[in-house]
Parts: sequence; C-alpha cells; structure tokens
Amino acid sequence: MHPHVEKILLSEEQIKERVYQLGQEITKDYQDKDILVVGILKGAMIFLADLVRNIEVPTFFDFMAVSSYGAGTVSSGAVRILKDLDKSIEGKHVIIVEDIVDTGLTLQYLVENMKARGPASLKICTLLDKPSRRKVDVTVDYNGFSIPDEFVVGYGLDFNERYRNLPYIAVLKPEIYRG
Ligand code: PRP
Ligand code: MN
Ligand code: MG
Repeated sequence: MHPHVEKILLSEEQIKERVYQLGQEITKDYQDKDILVVGILKGAMIFLADLVRNIEVPTFFDFMAVSSYGAGTVSSGAVRILKDLDKSIEGKHVIIVEDIVDTGLTLQYLVENMKARGPASLKICTLLDKPSRRKVDVTVDYNGFSIPDEFVVGYGLDFNERYRNLPYIAVLKPEIYRG
C-alpha cells in the first residue's frame, strides 16, 4: 500500500470484477451496433482502457479533456474544454466514459454540449458515483460503484494530479489533503 493511503475503498479485484460486468451489460445493450466511446481526460483513462477490453461489439474511441476542479478537492463548477473531440459524432451511438460523477456539473455540461452535435444516442458510463454531492440532475446509465462523500484517488483519479497510477481506489491520510 502507498504510504500516503489511509484506506483502500475498492481493491483491484473488486474493480476488475465490476468493470467486467459493465462491459457485459454494454455488449448486451448494443448488439448489432457500433459504439463510440468518448473518454473524459484525464480521470477516465484507466477505467476506459479496462472497460473497452470487456466490450464485445465494434468500439471506436475519441477523447475530450475538460477541467472543473483545477487544484484542490472542491469543484469550481466552471467547466473548461482543454481538448475537443477529433471528429463529428453525428449519427453515432456515443457513450461518455467518466471516472466519477460528483456534483454532476461536468457531465451536465458535456451532455448538453454533445447532444447539440446530433448523436444517434447518448449514454453515460461512470466507474464511481457520489450521489450525496449532486448539484444537478444527470442520468447515469451505467454506474460501477456508488461511494460515500470522501475524496478518493487512484485508478485515474487525482489529488493535485498525483496518485492517478494507484491500481485501486483509496482515501489519503488527512495530512496529505491538508498539504
Ligand atoms: C473530475 C472527475 C470528473 C469531474 C467530476 O475531473 O474526473 O471529470 O471532476 O466532478 P463533478 O461531477 O463535480 O463535475 P477533474 O476536473 O478533476 O479533471 P481530471 O479528470 O483531469 O482530474
Ligand atoms: Mn475528469
Ligand atoms: Mg481531477
């Protein structure tokens, strides 16, 4: 275990099993269709990489980078596009892949932004959901785990850009968050 970690919330094994199930669900729901997976950088990259290897229908990738948090643990609410999609999503079956839905502000912005581009369908898949922190309504179609209101890192999620490479989801020691 990393010395800054207080506790592991979700182990590698738990994540692996759940990601497999999500892949199976998506495969079942999109029989005879192609999927365009839109990964939201940077947090979603690890989840996306594991998820797509459990999807058994033709799967295409694109990425968007947005940032709402900047440094720190509290959402600013203002979403900025740092990198837009490479190609049109018109007529495509799009699944937005996120690592976590917290206030929902990032996804609310992304859903409105992408709906305006005319996809054939648009769904949301997130590894983690923190329903207690929601500020706006977003419909999550595929959710890995609902978690309590604790700031978590690992498996793509960062604190000040660190700890993304931890293979599990963890809570850090309070003195680390205090800086
Ligand atoms: C985090 C996380 C989600 C978003 C969720 O991204 O990866 O994208 O915040 O928060 P919300 O529901 O309150 O909007 P962040 O802005 O930290 O960028 P990152 O993915 O590059 O870490
Ligand atoms: Mn993110
Ligand atoms: Mg972040």
